[in-house]
Amino acid sequence: MFTKKEIIEILKDDIQNEQLFEYADIVRKNHVGDDVHLRGLIEFSNICKCTCFYCGLRAENKNTERYRFLPDDIVKYAKNAANLGFKTIVLQSGEDCFYTKDIICRIISEIKKLDIALTLSIGERPYDELKAFKDAGADRYLLRIETTDENLYKSLHPGMDFKNRLNCLKNLQKLGYETGSGCLVGLPNQTIESLADDILFFKENNFDMIGIGPFISHPDTPLKNAPNGDFTLSLKVMALARILMKDINIPATTAMETLNPQGRIIALQSGANVVMPNVTTSEYRKKYEIYPNKICVNKNADKCTGCIKRKIESIGRTVSKDYGFRKRI
Ligand code: 5AD
Ligand code: FES
Repeated sequence: MFTKKEIIEILKDDIQNEQLFEYADIVRKNHVGDDVHLRGLIEFSNICKCTCFYCGLRAENKNTERYRFLPDDIVKYAKNAANLGFKTIVLQSGEDCFYTKDIICRIISEIKKLDIALTLSIGERPYDELKAFKDAGADRYLLRIETTDENLYKSLHPGMDFKNRLNCLKNLQKLGYETGSGCLVGLPNQTIESLADDILFFKENNFDMIGIGPFISHPDTPLKNAPNGDFTLSLKVMALARILMKDINIPATTAMETLNPQGRIIALQSGANVVMPNVTTSEYRKKYEIYPNKICVNKNADKCTGCIKRKIESIGRTVSKDYGFRKRI
């Protein structure tokens, strides 16, 4: 177990990067094996009531053409993904109030008939809604803390409350969800010290999944002039997460590949064991522009599934055939 001081030293010093990545790869192999879990991602609405400074879907961005899938269409995409062999579907959207508790519950019940695991990534919701989703069959929930630096959090999330987010994460765990969190790397004014705090926060809270990706500057946001986060630093934060949390699921995030054409493969060889290919169509992928230059925006579900499977096998790994729940050790 590293101390905060040691984590900071590792993050600041680039001399031993290769050893760090190799060690994270060994820990990954020994504790979660060579299987890579594919999660089929359905970005079903880009409508969002929040105004996070870094995000292209922020309510104040008038340059994004907004869309929202009908519940039946969400279920259709999920069926298609199940037919392609996916064992997990991730439903992701902006914080869109159109999808009430009842609507989401109905979608969950339909999708759960397909014999697949279901992850929600739809932002902060009150306890009674999270409970209803769990009762309807949702298995997992993703809610990144984004940063544990409260002042930085406050400066980037107008109208939001760090305490609410923490509370929401606690509620998810209490309700028995496999709970995922994570952070952005390279936000303006983010310090190495605060990244070390992020890693320790993930460990202390025993999250089941941690998604880590570089900040990528979006031209239609207040952070348009900020530099992108650093690929290598993001990879280091991810590798440390693996070393400290040996049995959790860690995705090779799409944002990593936006900054480096081999980003996901490099991540899979530095601690990651999950990939989340998009299973919607080109038209919507383009519009779900959280950050610019997203990969695969001109592809469809078939193409990405084939492509990512080949990539996984090309590095001697296997595509998992099971649901990919955390196997605690
Ligand atoms: N760059 C990289 N990642 C981003 N996200 C939002 N905006 C950006 C950006 N500009 C991430 C957030 C969110 C996830 C769905 O996308 O961490 O939790
Ligand atoms: Fe989409 Fe490779 S994963 S084309």
